[in-house]
Amino acid sequence: AFMLEASEISVLEQRVRETLGIDNCIVVPGNSDTQDWVKQEMGKRCAQLLEKMLHPNCTVAVTGGTTMAALAAAMPPIHTAENVMFVPARGGIGEQVENEANTICAAMAKRAKSQYRLLYVPDPIGEESYQTIIEEPSVKEVLSIINRSDIVIHGIGDAMTMAKRRRTPEPLVEQFKSGVAVSEAFGYYFDAEGNVVHRVRTVGLQLEDLDKAESVIAIAGGASKARAIASYFKLGRNNILVTDEAAANQLIKGE
Ligand code: F6P
Repeated sequence: AFMLEASEISVLEQRVRETLGIDNCIVVPGNSDTQDWVKQEMGKRCAQLLEKMLHPNCTVAVTGGTTMAALAAAMPPIHTAENVMFVPARGGIGEQVENEANTICAAMAKRAKSQYRLLYVPDPIGEESYQTIIEEPSVKEVLSIINRSDIVIHGIGDAMTMAKRRRTPEPLVEQFKSGVAVSEAFGYYFDAEGNVVHRVRTVGLQLEDLDKAESVIAIAGGASKARAIASYFKLGRNNILVTDEAAANQLIKGE
């Protein structure tokens, strides 16, 4: 069922662009919920896209997650642009180490033969420590690079899935269960209309910073993420989506 012709794929891409109101969409065949190679294929296509967008001295901020890990694994060495720098978009947001933004950032930079900077911030973090940490000169310096990122690439998750995957306080999980939160990206949780309903307290990229970036690319697939993708894109923060056929089909049906 998931063996589409190239022409069918481009129709699907066009319809997703119209549905979400974005400039660019890449759809790969299949469903990454059930087929691992689909995630790898999304990673490959996203890496090719990124390679074309890079320019000298540009900074790329990345988030964590398994889809971003597939992108890091597919990153080619960059010969086309000098001085490219990778940074994690935000500090720790409760992921296991292999799926943390820091890990993915370092892996991507290594494959790309580029530079990187990391953010060392414990999480979760209390208000007082937060204020102290953001004043640390080394943290401050990395944060100022992150806040001026030219290209941002991030995963999107289903809110409940992410709340459970992280050490989320129980009352919050209960609140999310009632459907308050639909999607998650960068440690922010969004409702069905794309409004922020909760954010994990950590340092790094703020939603407002996305407006200043040249390009904001989301990479997320699987039928199970269609609602989350639709919710995240409601407020139009991104211009590019890399997804798969299963998510794309649900998205255009509005399910
Ligand atoms: O926790 C990092 C993160 O990028 C989240 O913001 C996002 O919801 C999630 O990972 C996506 O993870 P995956 O690609 O494994 O579904």
